[in-house]
Amino acid sequence: MNFHILTLFPEMVMHGLNTSIIGRAIKNGLISIEAINIRDYSNNKFNKVDDYTYGGGAGMLMQAEPVYLAYKSVESNIQPNKKKRVIYVTPQGEPFTQKKAKELSQSDELIFLCGHYEGIDERVLEEIVTDYVSIGDYVLTGGELPTMVMIDAISRLVPGVLHNDLSAETESFHNNLLEYPQYSRPEVWRGKKVPDVILSGNTKEVEKWRLEQSIKRTKERRYDLYLKFKTSQKCIDVLKKNKLNYADMINVLEMGRANVIFEDENQILIQDEETLCYYYAPISEKADVISLINDMTLLTSMGESSTDSVLKIISHDCRTNKKLEDFYGGRAIKKEFAQLVYTQKNRLSIKAMRHPKVDINTFEVFNQDKTLAKVDMRTFGLPIVSEIKAENEEQGDLDFYKKTLLTALINDMLDLDVMPVFWFTDNEMSYFGKVIDTVYLYQAKEKVNIFFISK
Ligand SMILES: C[S@@+](CC[C@H](N)C(=O)[O-])C[C@H]1O[C@@H](n2cnc3c(N)ncnc32)[C@H](O)[C@@H]1O
Repeated sequence: MNFHILTLFPEMVMHGLNTSIIGRAIKNGLISIEAINIRDYSNNKFNKVDDYTYGGGAGMLMQAEPVYLAYKSVESNIQPNKKKRVIYVTPQGEPFTQKKAKELSQSDELIFLCGHYEGIDERVLEEIVTDYVSIGDYVLTGGELPTMVMIDAISRLVPGVLHNDLSAETESFHNNLLEYPQYSRPEVWRGKKVPDVILSGNTKEVEKWRLEQSIKRTKERRYDLYLKFKTSQKCIDVLKKNKLNYADMINVLEMGRANVIFEDENQILIQDEETLCYYYAPISEKADVISLINDMTLLTSMGESSTDSVLKIISHDCRTNKKLEDFYGGRAIKKEFAQLVYTQKNRLSIKAMRHPKVDINTFEVFNQDKTLAKVDMRTFGLPIVSEIKAENEEQGDLDFYKKTLLTALINDMLDLDVMPVFWFTDNEMSYFGKVIDTVYLYQAKEKVNIFFISK
């Protein structure tokens, strides 16, 4: 990933970012950071880039032209096929969050624009900026510190930047929970002992304790997050009453990847943060998917860009399908999929494992050290299509399972033109932070349908 910073103080950002983990990532070629001095693009003989604001008011404003020329110099070196975003750091922007960091980390080229004085002439912002982002509700003297904060948070999500890629998956904000307390040597420090459970060596107990502590800490320090966590748990409990049908929804919620958009006793609507796909579950007879989409202005609030001008909604039952088809007609394109669910039921002898050195969202299915398939979790959120026969679950038939699963996997990849996504019902397996052990399989009876609805 390449970062370009448009600033009046290049040395400030370059010094700040060239140390420790980010500095090492630059040296290792995982990321690159360049600072462009906006002053170099001044057409004034004193290199002046600011002027008084029209209409009066205190302070000076950065002028449009030097900013524009500095931007153009960067843009002209970026290939058109690269995913590019231009971020103006400003107290007037959307709040910078872990979610936003994740979203931006999917780009190839990020251009940061740092304001100074009273800010920047609005006209150039309208011309070049794609995202307005703030680091908090306070006003700083310049955009350099916010840019450094954002680049730091985004860089550590770039595969390979953290030695242990897993730590980014288990930290604060994952699943709306803050991280649990941690301890290092010595065991006793000034009379304070590390909790016994941590030293017990019992992994299950340690994990249980950590989850409890995370919940307790979130409740005490960030009640807003705690409420989100509770809502998502409540939805998981409801969906678990029909576990196999809603395995996909349970899975994205358990992975901390989805937001609950709406829930009451009649229906649940969630959204996968990464794929932006919605999942709908009618709970009672009163469920009304059409009103919900309209009330939440899901379609009308979609942007014009190619990625979000289509509403992707996953439906799990024929009544919802019919309602969507009747109401949206030709605007709704439907794709039907069998949902493959991994449960304790049927054991497969295939091991699936995240590749420690590859993208955090990718893992490989392998057998005897031979890679059989590579799976990307970041795609559409499409469950994989498969016809696995459940009768052959004897130990001796493991080869059959293996072959069928892989055939299905590979066919799906070819058919759908996207990499398939695995769903795991078992907690251990949805937790991508560690080696995923033996895979269990079950094919859900209900088909899932993905509707692509255009405006
Ligand atoms: C003094 S501020 C300008 C504030 C501007 N007059 C306003 O009221 O929104 C100067 C620059 O610092 C940066 N900045 C200040 N506070 C920020 C924050 N909380 N988040 C991101 N950038 C900020 C912006 O780039 C801004 O253009």
